[in-house]
Amino acid sequence: MPKKILFVCLGNICRSPAAEGVFKQKVRDRDLEKLFVVDSAGTGGWHVGNLADPRMRETALLRGIELTSRSRKIEESDLFEFDYILVMDKDNLVDVKSLIKDHMDKIHPKVKLILSYSKKFNLEEVPDPYYGGQDGFDKVLDLLDDAIDGLIDSLID
Ligand code: 4NP
Repeated sequence: MPKKILFVCLGNICRSPAAEGVFKQKVRDRDLEKLFVVDSAGTGGWHVGNLADPRMRETALLRGIELTSRSRKIEESDLFEFDYILVMDKDNLVDVKSLIKDHMDKIHPKVKLILSYSKKFNLEEVPDPYYGGQDGFDKVLDLLDDAIDGLIDSLID
């Protein structure tokens, strides 16, 4: 059975689609595609149906990563469907956990900060790049590149 991974941020147009794209590229490069199902979602619904932010798409494309996902809002059923729910910041953590009223003991351990898998960076959160400059988008990819290596290593152990 493939492991099911869901990346979550606020708008699902910057950080979590980037995480989805980085993850997909890494498992493709390592010939591990059959082992995983991956998706992303937002805790907010403002951008539902939209492609990722053009700044995030361009920054990813410069690293050879094409972001093709469309924004969707996380639903309570996602928390049962996915095995790992990896969020970008502590607000996402609170928002995702607040979706679940029952079975908290089963769901809460699945929900983790993606940077808990980081090897090189001593940071807890992937900063929201939406209102900032280009450096924020590069930083998102630097952080995710490292943390997703750590995540994949831990999942294939
Ligand atoms: P994301 O970034 O959570 O990384 O997708 C954001 C995108 C949009 C908004 C906030 C954050 N917004 O307020 O519309």
